[in-house]
Amino acid sequence: MPQKIRVVLSSDHAAIGLRQDIAGYISSKGYDAIDIGPVLPESTAYAPHGQAAAARVISGDCRFGIILCGTGQGIMMAANKMPGIRCGVCSDPFSARMIRQHNDANMLAMGARVVGDALALAIVNAFLDAEFMGGRHAPRVALIEPLAD
Ligand code: RB5
Repeated sequence: MPQKIRVVLSSDHAAIGLRQDIAGYISSKGYDAIDIGPVLPESTAYAPHGQAAAARVISGDCRFGIILCGTGQGIMMAANKMPGIRCGVCSDPFSARMIRQHNDANMLAMGARVVGDALALAIVNAFLDAEFMGGRHAPRVALIEPLAD
């Protein structure tokens, strides 16, 4: 049996319900959803949650990451501080497809206060179904590196 693609999910308190819905949805699509929480609704900072998910992607434990906060912005900024992470915030399926096809994104961020459940699932679909096109995009992606001081 082929190995399932592992997708790590995390969020802050603002997106627990949506994150759990997405985890269930991608499991039903045949992915291995690794939901690293949090579970409790207490207010919590987004950065450590985003970076914990990013660490799973960097280590190779998970192929993709899906991270959520109220807007998606803060958790995306935190994840992108991690070397090797390419994470985009998406509020539409077109952008989600393009960050895979052109930018070889390995993480998707969304805002639970921005997108509704049905739209979020469509965005996830577009992200996971798309593949990096390579070709002229490969050297461009290779230039996304931390600049030396
Ligand atoms: C939490 O209230 C909120 O600031 C957070 O979820 C996120 O939107 C930050 O970018």
